[in-house]
Amino acid sequence: MPAAQTPPPSPSAPRRWELGAELRLTAHAWQVLTEGRRWSEVIEARAKGGALPSRSRAAVQDYLYLLARHRLSLEKLASFLNQRQPAPSVGTLQLAALALLTRLEADDPYCATIVDQAVRAAKGAQDDTVLAAASGFINATLRRFLRERADLMNRLQQMAQHDPCLRWNFPQWWIDQIRTDYPQQWQEVLEAMNQPAHLTLRVNPRQTGRAEFVQSVAAAYADAGLKFITPDNTLAVMLDRSLDVTHLPGYEQGHFSVQDLAAQHAAPLLAPAPGASILDACAAPGGKTAHLLELADVQVTAIDQDERRLERLGVNLSRLQLDTLPEAGGQIIAGDAANLEAWWDGVPFDHVLLDAPCSASGIVRRHPDVRWLRKRSDLATLAEQQSRLLDALWPVLKPGGTLLYITCSVFRAEGAAVIDQFLARTPEAKPLPMRTGCLEFSAERALLPSADHDGFYFCLLQRQPVQE
Ligand SMILES: C[S@@+](CC[C@H](N)C(=O)[O-])C[C@H]1O[C@@H](n2cnc3c(N)ncnc32)[C@H](O)[C@@H]1O
Repeated sequence: MPAAQTPPPSPSAPRRWELGAELRLTAHAWQVLTEGRRWSEVIEARAKGGALPSRSRAAVQDYLYLLARHRLSLEKLASFLNQRQPAPSVGTLQLAALALLTRLEADDPYCATIVDQAVRAAKGAQDDTVLAAASGFINATLRRFLRERADLMNRLQQMAQHDPCLRWNFPQWWIDQIRTDYPQQWQEVLEAMNQPAHLTLRVNPRQTGRAEFVQSVAAAYADAGLKFITPDNTLAVMLDRSLDVTHLPGYEQGHFSVQDLAAQHAAPLLAPAPGASILDACAAPGGKTAHLLELADVQVTAIDQDERRLERLGVNLSRLQLDTLPEAGGQIIAGDAANLEAWWDGVPFDHVLLDAPCSASGIVRRHPDVRWLRKRSDLATLAEQQSRLLDALWPVLKPGGTLLYITCSVFRAEGAAVIDQFLARTPEAKPLPMRTGCLEFSAERALLPSADHDGFYFCLLQRQPVQE
């Protein structure tokens, strides 16, 4: 029986930081997000050179997810405790500790550890005298929270009944948009957007079978009591908890990729025949490129304008043992897909996959920070980019060929609205019915997020054959 492949810790690296240090990094990363930047820049910088142990990295990620999913409730709770707005580094450390405390039962002994560690992190902040001076404030307010917890939580709940932002923890514009787009289901959609997602994998049929893969993972984690979900007519394997996938059996050999269930329907919707030529126009980091290559012997031209993400595409294809694009007549190109003059040789494609840049509103379960980084005005800019790509790429499709337009957004402005306008100005484009295995798709509306999958918009268009 193979053992779980956990790499041994290096002798010099701590297995995990103290909780206080994790809280401090969480607070710093959260502060960066509140300034409108991605928290990953802070985490990546700290992880460089192995300075951040992987277990602490996972813990910090967890705490940040909590903060992102409960931001407005936590800020309201903090406002009950604070006489006036604390300095940013003090407020974010307090918020990070509150996020952890609200997750535990009131009498959990770990609550005292969290308070002690937050106080210790503040006291020890040699690079931040304001924070160091605020350790008494952190101590007093967190202890008050523990004493008055039931009342404070009650007060919060009462307020949330009349305030959708507090109830759902989304900005007002996001709630308004979902309510406009889905007047019957807006509350269910927001609820689903707040649920943590399964870890979903896609088995690579060129390397292993799904049953065989599940068996190998179950054996490697025999004591963990993992639950597997394997939806019919797919190669998906969903796990009930998140694991470091690089430790799963078969990772190095390319037996699987990480990909949400909804995204796993893109390649089957195109249903390419062996030998078909496919343009994957916004390809990096290659989740769907790899899936196409796993399904059939096809010629894929993969383009992306982001060279760093394109590097990851190369690494992913290589791990999956699919890096035979050039021999199979395919290629990888860095550049703007809409600039045909720069890359197209004039030979039309059987299929085009346009997985367009979007707001990512459909994958907010997996990226809860998206709601705080996006602005309402982004939607019009993104719709313009999406339409530009559609118009530019339509001519590279063969008459009779199909183009699959996808976004991982559920906002109508980036899905059905873009397609309606495209159809109005492109008479030779006809939407085709879309069906695969266990999910149904409609070009009229997005596939909404659920417990099993993210939200996506799909539209399969055919270029009408030339009339004789
Ligand atoms: C949704 S992601 C693609 C995900 C990818 N298809 C996958 O399954 O892994 C969108 C991608 O579009 C790329 N992109 C945006 N505008 C582009 C353009 N004009 N030309 C080429 N790539 C573009 C971005 O760099 C980003 O990698």
